[in-house]
Amino acid sequence: MLEIREMRPEDLERVAEIEKKIFSMPWSREGFAESLEQDYTLYLTAVQDGGIIGYCGMSQAFEEAEITNVAVEEKSRGQGTAEKMLRELLRRGEEKGISRYILEVRFGNAAARRLYEKLGFEDVGVRKGFYERPAEDAVIMVKD
Ligand SMILES: CC(C)(COP(=O)(O)OP(=O)(O)OC[C@H]1O[C@@H](n2cnc3c(N)ncnc32)[C@H](O)[C@@H]1OP(=O)(O)O)[C@@H](O)C(=O)NCCC(=O)NCCS
Repeated sequence: MLEIREMRPEDLERVAEIEKKIFSMPWSREGFAESLEQDYTLYLTAVQDGGIIGYCGMSQAFEEAEITNVAVEEKSRGQGTAEKMLRELLRRGEEKGISRYILEVRFGNAAARRLYEKLGFEDVGVRKGFYERPAEDAVIMVKD
């Protein structure tokens, strides 16, 4: 059974472990911990059979929010986990008065771009050379 709930401090070790496996410039455990403490952020954890398999988070500024993290561990992909997590994030965001979401995604990250499109995000621009390791453009996507 899949449970989507708010991220807790005791999740951070596993979250940082997943992050490190997936991203070339991962957020550290301390980075997540600091972010989690802020009252303008919201982080969710996906838990399946007691184990953390994914997480996502956003940072709010008035009625806008930036989605800062989305990840599902490799072996648990393709089961709708990211979609469920993000739908829950958007639902909770709406309760907080958020009406506009923005995010950046690597140009070549077809899976993530399709995921965001499915959730109603649209491409609004490109940031040339935004990413490092490897260098790549960022697509900026927005959902109003
Ligand atoms: C992107 C990511 C979070 C998707 O997680 P997931 O749990 O496998 O995604 P879901 O099963 O919820 O898929 C939901 C939708 O996303 C899209 N999608 C997901 N994986 C895809 C793939 N490999 N190819 C194309 N579309 C894909 C599809 O539209 C899918 O809907 P569908 O099944 O009806 O076609 C996951 O691949 C991941 O962690 N990638 C590495 C980290 C990353 O890129 N994070 C985003 C950084 S901006």
